[in-house]
Amino acid sequence: MISTKIGALINDQIAKEQYAAQYYLSMSAWFSARDLDGIANYFRVQSKEELMHADKMFDYMIDVGAEIVLGEIPKPPHEFTDAKEIFEKALEHEKIVTKSIFNILKNANEEGDFATVSFLQWFVNEQVEEEANASQLVTKIKMVYDNPSAMYLFDQELKQRVFVPDAGN
Ligand SMILES: [Fe+2]
Ligand SMILES: [Fe+2]
Repeated sequence: MISTKIGALINDQIAKEQYAAQYYLSMSAWFSARDLDGIANYFRVQSKEELMHADKMFDYMIDVGAEIVLGEIPKPPHEFTDAKEIFEKALEHEKIVTKSIFNILKNANEEGDFATVSFLQWFVNEQVEEEANASQLVTKIKMVYDNPSAMYLFDQELKQRVFVPDAGN
């Protein structure tokens, strides 16, 4: 049902989502090591969501009878300068993922692969949310990162986030 080319792009995207999960998990560990458990929680939830994205694509590949070839997942960075840098990198990474999804969509459109176009719509909407959230957190971390009491409150705020399976954000 889908072409070899689109299948390969989705296989790559599965690895990219899994890499994003590793990247955010590494960020989570950085915050845990500094007793910022709320922010660590935020990135842990973010990591689980990325795995859910990979799962969605995995399921789609099964549904359309495409061959699944899992890719290699590079080792994520584990050293960061400060909290601000991490949030900036998270936003940067979401933008890269958005571009990658748009590229699959562009190819699917060109091929008239409307099943994949339709499938990817969820991800297009999801990326709008992801970028908006990441961007808002960059603004917030810039306000608080060099002020311990403000950081304490920010950490408390992010402690509230819970993982909702299949909610997509
Ligand atoms: Fe994702
Ligand atoms: Fe994401």
